[in-house]
Amino acid sequence: MSSLAILFLRLIRQLLTMVSKVAIIYYSMYGHVGQLARAIKKGVESVGLKGDLYQIPETLPKDVLEKMHAPGQDPNVPLATMETLEQYEAFLFGMPTRYGNQSAQVRAFWDRTGQLWVKGSLHQKLAGVFFSTASMGGGQEMTAANFISTLAHHGMVYVPLGYFNTFSQFTGLTEVRGGSAWGSGTLAGGDGSRQPSKLELEVAEIQGKTFAELAKRVQSKPEDK
Ligand SMILES: Cc1cc2nc3c(=O)[nH]c(=O)nc-3n(C[C@H](O)[C@H](O)[C@H](O)COP(=O)(O)O)c2cc1C
Repeated sequence: MSSLAILFLRLIRQLLTMVSKVAIIYYSMYGHVGQLARAIKKGVESVGLKGDLYQIPETLPKDVLEKMHAPGQDPNVPLATMETLEQYEAFLFGMPTRYGNQSAQVRAFWDRTGQLWVKGSLHQKLAGVFFSTASMGGGQEMTAANFISTLAHHGMVYVPLGYFNTFSQFTGLTEVRGGSAWGSGTLAGGDGSRQPSKLELEVAEIQGKTFAELAKRVQSKPEDK
C-alpha cells in the first residue's frame, strides 16, 4: 500500500474515532440546573459538536415531591440510563447541591453503575460538572470536589472550567453570581425564586464551549474497551 493510501486510511480512522457528541446529564428539581444545561448545550454546539440533554430519573415519591412544590421533570428531555453512559465519550453532569453534596437522585444514578465500573466502561472518558445552590457559600465547590471521587473511581477525567475563558466573568465583582473554576453554577435563593442570571448563563455557555473544544481534540478508542 502506498504511503498516500496509508495516510488517507489514517485520516478516515481519525475522523471515525473523533468525539462528535457530548451528553449533558442533569437532575433539576426546580429547573435551575436545567436552565444551565440548555446554555451549556448552546456552548457545546457552537463549536460543532452535538450536545444531547438527558435527565437523571426522579427517585422521590409523588407525595414528597408535592410537599416540596417540585414542578416535575421536563417532559421533553429523555432520561439517562446506563447505556447513555456507555454510548458517549464526554459528559457534563449537572446537579443541585444538597448539604454541600450531590442530590440523592444523582447518587442513586451512580449507585447503579457497578457493572460499568467492573467493565471499565467509563475509563478515561471526559467529565465536567455544573451545579446550583440556594446561597453563596452554599457548597458549589464542595459539590464538585465530592463528585470527583465518583469520577476517580471510574477512571474518568475531570475537566474543570478554569479561568482562561472566564477571567472577566469570574473576576468582576459587580454582581452576585454562582459558578467558579470548578464549573458553572447558579444561585437559586432560599425560596428558589431567583432564576439564573444573564452572567451565569453566559458562563454556562462558555463551559459548554470550553469543554467541547477539549473533547474535539480527544480521540475515542472503542477498540480499547
Ligand atoms: C434537602 C436540601 C438540601 C439542600 N442543601 C443545600 C446546601 O447545602 N446549600 C445550598 O446553598 N442550597 C441547598 N439546597 C437548595 C438547593 O440547592 C436548590 O433548591 C437547588 O440548587 C435548586 O436547583 P434546581 O432548581 O435545579 O433543583 C438544598 C435543598 C434541599 C431540598
